[in-house]
Amino acid sequence: MATVIDGKAFAQQLRNDLKDEVTALKAEHGLTPGLAVVLVGEDPASQVYVRNKARQTVEVGMQSFEHRLDADTDQQTLLDLIEQLNDDDAVHGILVQLPLPGHIDESRVINAVSHDKDVDGFHLINVGRLNTDGGGVVPCTPLGSLMMLKSQLGDLSGLHAVVLGRSNIVGKPMAALLLQANCTVTVAHSRTRDLESLCRSADILVAAVGRPRMVPGDWIKPGATVIDVGINRIEEDGKTRLVGDVDHASAEPVAGAITPVPGGVGPMTIACLLHNTVQQARRIAGISED
Ligand code: GUN
Repeated sequence: MATVIDGKAFAQQLRNDLKDEVTALKAEHGLTPGLAVVLVGEDPASQVYVRNKARQTVEVGMQSFEHRLDADTDQQTLLDLIEQLNDDDAVHGILVQLPLPGHIDESRVINAVSHDKDVDGFHLINVGRLNTDGGGVVPCTPLGSLMMLKSQLGDLSGLHAVVLGRSNIVGKPMAALLLQANCTVTVAHSRTRDLESLCRSADILVAAVGRPRMVPGDWIKPGATVIDVGINRIEEDGKTRLVGDVDHASAEPVAGAITPVPGGVGPMTIACLLHNTVQQARRIAGISED
């Protein structure tokens, strides 16, 4: 049976370390990192995430700024708010919750956030750095996934990693990080042929497609490490359940290690957001990591 990787405990440890780091930044440098989260509209899942983010930001001792705008807010109003946050010295990180309503140009908004305050790693400068010198800010979900992989496997060199999904938020940056870690990386997507045998050749399988239980156990190489990024809400037996992109009932007897849903990648994503905010606050203030 697979080891179930406890993302919740891992995230708690990361937040404990961040709390100590924030205490030291306040005491030694008078610096309190601040994170601004902007939510446009009333998407229920986004509201839950934003509430969790705000609570955890305060719990580690940082300042939280929340901006909720109506779903019909025009693009210029949003861009004006971002400009104001870019100029605000108490704000070191800005996160605009995605997806944005259809009438807003997402790329325009993402790139309006100063790259020094981008905590998602979505700004073109940070995307470019991730794919060249490996500096800059790393997107939260791939970063949390990589941390769990390294703690499980140690050195990842030479392993074959298959990433299912090619989104800008998860698939592409995940592939870049695994490549940096010296994996041989294959990115698969909806047009990939013979997905099943490809998955079965993976030492590391990262599923980030947003399709409930798409990967059954017999697609998994015995002993492989599986990171399930999916968080899908389904109705089953008259109940709403959260399930991953992997079918855990058939995958757990085969895999070597697997992240659960919920309690795997999800908690790590928020912890990494806090980590990125502290990192940006240090950069802006010119305080190096020691
Ligand atoms: N929506 C879903 N995941 C994310 C994320 O990591 N960052 C932002 N900004 N929006 C999201």
